[in-house]
Amino acid sequence: MNMTFVLFGATGDLAKRKIFPALFNLFTDNKMPESFSIIGLGRREMAHDVFQKQVEQSIETFSRRKAADRAALDKFLGAFRYSALDVNRPEDYTKLLELVEQREKELNLPQNRMFYLSVGPEFFDVIASNIKASGLGSTSGWKRLIIEKPFGRDLASARELNEKLSKSFTEEEIYRIDHYLGKPMVQNLEVLENANPVLHALWTNRYISNVQITASETVGVEERAGYYDTSGALRDMFQNHMLQLLMMIAMQLPKESNPEDVRNKKRMVMESLRPLQQDDISSQIVLGQYGAGEMNGKPVPGYQDEPGVAPGTQNNTFIAAKLWIDSEFWRGVPFYIRTGKRMAEKSTRIVIEFKDPLDQPLRKVDETAVPNLLVIEIGPKEGITLQLNSKDPKHEGKFEPVYVNCFSSLEDMPEAYENLIHDAMRGDGTFFAHWNEVELSWQWVQPILDAVEKGELPLHTYPAGSYGPKAAFDLLGDHVWWLDNDT
Ligand code: BG6
Repeated sequence: MNMTFVLFGATGDLAKRKIFPALFNLFTDNKMPESFSIIGLGRREMAHDVFQKQVEQSIETFSRRKAADRAALDKFLGAFRYSALDVNRPEDYTKLLELVEQREKELNLPQNRMFYLSVGPEFFDVIASNIKASGLGSTSGWKRLIIEKPFGRDLASARELNEKLSKSFTEEEIYRIDHYLGKPMVQNLEVLENANPVLHALWTNRYISNVQITASETVGVEERAGYYDTSGALRDMFQNHMLQLLMMIAMQLPKESNPEDVRNKKRMVMESLRPLQQDDISSQIVLGQYGAGEMNGKPVPGYQDEPGVAPGTQNNTFIAAKLWIDSEFWRGVPFYIRTGKRMAEKSTRIVIEFKDPLDQPLRKVDETAVPNLLVIEIGPKEGITLQLNSKDPKHEGKFEPVYVNCFSSLEDMPEAYENLIHDAMRGDGTFFAHWNEVELSWQWVQPILDAVEKGELPLHTYPAGSYGPKAAFDLLGDHVWWLDNDT
């Protein structure tokens, strides 16, 4: 597995906050190959040692692990080199190839080359084709490409990008990062469902009433208005992270599964997702934008008043959706998804509400009764809670809810980027977004983009610090959003 890791965008924010710390944590956990070379690329000129200093600072500031001793840190930093590169200049790739080959010789590395594009999507194509043209991609070992989101802005642009990338890398060589797939609890979903007969037995539309997927954030647009104002919650979170969570929770894996099975089953979920019909869009999709409100007792401005957003912007910062999977397994079970910025709490979780087996909502028999819920907390804390009914000892004929829960006791959990980079280094594509999934996701989302474009979907305002617009609660009809039902 000895290899070269070539990082485009090595002076950028993601490299500093996530990628260097992830590589360092893998190194400390003995998960890096025995021998490796890391080459950082950025626009400006920089000496190798200045770059190494930057990497060291990023580790000091952002890594969950600190270096055990100076020698270990020096060994890690010693693997780093830097080369200035203008993505459009072929001669810079020739220079890069020389450096890659020189380091391969020095360290006796096989020609296994990982290219990580931590750059804007507008550069994906030009970099991939220059990797090919320069000979960097002609290796006697393997080559792989890791790319960040967004993968296109809509169905047509995603297809166009994929077409272009496929001229330089095969689908098996492309690792599309969706960092939600690197979260430990998301990677745990399969085990949770399949290794627990108690849950497995109930995992069918016979017993499940509905599934709710929430990713609420407390932050607003921050300093990213330039990107976010043309992207919105729909493109930024829904098309990728939220639909990936849907696939992960809804797929049905065979007993012994391999990466191929995971991809096939995820694709099958997307293929059975009932397409949105023109007439259903407004009854199945709610878009919102945060107005002024309060966060932690302090007033905060509405989206329209955030620096950098276009005056009068109609961009969405919240989306809630009702989806149906027309498979034998999930028929009749609605999936509810919502995500938004400036909401009351930071929480990513999946709630599975079970049916009353007597087909007689318990709530109506005793208004204190609650349905059984399985709550899977994905972040920021990780845990599982089962909500059950118990006899209320103080009130005759009444129930009280009790909770069976376990939260991760591991303080020092690996971060999403560590898991994903490690998987890519091992050539395991299970937790990356396959082109089929990306294409089918855009296909499902496209009618919403079209409706937004034509101004056919209302944009509801919700106060910052709330759980979203009232319309998102109405969307559920007889059901309720669990755990924050503050209608
Ligand atoms: C990113 C989005 O992909 O995910 C951000 O671009 C969002 O807008 C972030 O804040 C949320 O990630 P997490 O891991 O904090 O839930």
